[in-house]
Amino acid sequence: MDNRPILFIDSGIGGLLYCRDFIKHNPQEEVCYLADIKNFPYGQRGKEELTSILISLIEKLLKTIDPKIIVIACNTATISSLEPLRNHFSGISFVGTVPAIKPAANASKNRKVGVLGTTRTVEDPYNQNLAKDYCEIYAVAAPELAEFVEQRFEKADEKEKNDIVKKYIDIFRKEGVDTLVLGCTHYLYLLEEFRNEASPDIQIFDSLDGITKRVEFLLNENDDKLRSDIDFEPVHWLFLTGSEPQGSAWQERCQELGFALCMLDSL
Ligand code: DGL
Repeated sequence: MDNRPILFIDSGIGGLLYCRDFIKHNPQEEVCYLADIKNFPYGQRGKEELTSILISLIEKLLKTIDPKIIVIACNTATISSLEPLRNHFSGISFVGTVPAIKPAANASKNRKVGVLGTTRTVEDPYNQNLAKDYCEIYAVAAPELAEFVEQRFEKADEKEKNDIVKKYIDIFRKEGVDTLVLGCTHYLYLLEEFRNEASPDIQIFDSLDGITKRVEFLLNENDDKLRSDIDFEPVHWLFLTGSEPQGSAWQERCQELGFALCMLDSL
């Protein structure tokens, strides 16, 4: 048994959905979440830059917490930096988040799969390589969408959300894709809008369930070696980079989720 926390990392609120889904299914596991809002958006950064940002943030966090697993709850960071992170922190298990292209390709009838992601994700050969033998990938970068979710989602009305989603669905519909992968964790906040707008001809895919299952698999290996055995609900921590003014949305989010908030730069 192992009562150390599991650390989730993203550039903002995107990965929080993954973290919440994991907690819902595993309430006895302690979780820490790092929202690197200081370096948002990751999608506009280069591979090496992002890797060195993540290495120094994780090194800093490791002085305070001792995670048993680190989940990179961000497609951009996973595609850019997962391998170098695994090499650098060789004693820690990492779980990465990548666009759910394989399940989408399996479900696609016309073999045309759409992928929506950040500029960095879409430009990486990873997506094309993953499916090039069995389907055609049509990838579109939507940098404004992560920005919208990070800054506007909680204030925006339904019309604003539908309009921004429709713009992208129109592009994919015109291209004739029958499956669309949401390849950025931020976009999952708009999942319902995407499903409504895409119906009935385009099916939407995401990686939420896959990540929770992958972490559970690692916890359960070798007779639950990494499972926690506490019998109360642990306190979860949310680490924020940069400085966040009093009364910010992050304080409200933490209160709502029952997370304790900690400013990483003050450690
Ligand atoms: N949430 C991140 C992803 O899954 C990207 C958002 C950003 O550009 O920072 O790719």
